[in-house]
Amino acid sequence: MKVFVLYGGRSAEHEVSLRTAFTVLGSMDRSRYDVYPVYITTDGLWSCNGAMKEPFASKEELVLTAAGGDPAGSIGEVLSRYFSLPGKKAVLPLLHGSYGEDGTVQGLLELLDIPYVGNGVLSAALTLDKAMCKKVLEQEGIAQTRHVTLSPEQWLDGREDVMDWIEGEVGYPCYVKPASLGSSIGISRCPSRSELEAGIVQAFRYDRKLVVETEIVGREIQVAVMGNGAPVASLPGEFLHGVDFFDFQAKYMDQSLRMSVPAELPSHLLEEIRTLALRAYIALDCAGLARVDFFVDGQGGIFLNEINALPGFTGTSMYPVMWERTSGIPYGELLDRLLDYGIA
Ligand code: DAL
Ligand code: MG
Repeated sequence: MKVFVLYGGRSAEHEVSLRTAFTVLGSMDRSRYDVYPVYITTDGLWSCNGAMKEPFASKEELVLTAAGGDPAGSIGEVLSRYFSLPGKKAVLPLLHGSYGEDGTVQGLLELLDIPYVGNGVLSAALTLDKAMCKKVLEQEGIAQTRHVTLSPEQWLDGREDVMDWIEGEVGYPCYVKPASLGSSIGISRCPSRSELEAGIVQAFRYDRKLVVETEIVGREIQVAVMGNGAPVASLPGEFLHGVDFFDFQAKYMDQSLRMSVPAELPSHLLEEIRTLALRAYIALDCAGLARVDFFVDGQGGIFLNEINALPGFTGTSMYPVMWERTSGIPYGELLDRLLDYGIA
């Protein structure tokens, strides 16, 4: 079977996608799959140089080898040259953030009638937009942090009024987040009004919709879920870090970051979190895979933080590590299963 692996992409999480792709492309079983790497530039140009027999030797090659000396071209060129090849085909979109994890690429693949791994148009769009996701979860009765959604029009109408409103609804410390980005990019922790103002200005550089949430003091617990009609959840895991705000630097640069899998929590809480993760996955119509992130406060209160339709997938990312450590599913086998879910 031909598997087209999409990576890079137009979102601010381009670099994270390269990390994910490097590990995935290094682990795909070449006796089962003809692997076609498709690199997407930050400008949205696509390049593909045919099937690749050997995994990439370095992360830098990810960008160069897919292009094979050819300049990146339009999506249409790659689609007509490669996606129309005969035989069984599937797409593995390893794109984090907008233009990939948000339903857009999924819509294109639906139109082309090419099976793909992971969430469909609706669940990808809903989970990438933190504001819309919260609305669905609220409807489902799943506890979340206190929050508001903010548009540029509201902000331009009157900064002081907006900040008064946020102080009343959310309070300090709070987090300002672009609604549609991951990996903590563009997010600020704001302990006071001046930081709130700066945080909002910064987040609007990334997105035209923001979410402002109150801080939960406690632990960040994650659950890996996979499957289509009858999804299954891993035991929860936890990152052990000593920072207030688990930002991009702490997530991707801190060599001392450790994972505790399964998380050390009383078994009734572990079970409750797993059940909530599955409820949220089903409520959002997820398919294939998702990582569901929670906060647990000092009183054992559980709050759903967010759902990631394409969680980071490196050898040290929570999603594959949770499956490996809690269910004994090695990385390569996990990929096979996800591909099977996509093609089913
Ligand atoms: N958005 C990043 C890749 C994650 O959720 O792991
Ligand atoms: Mg995220």
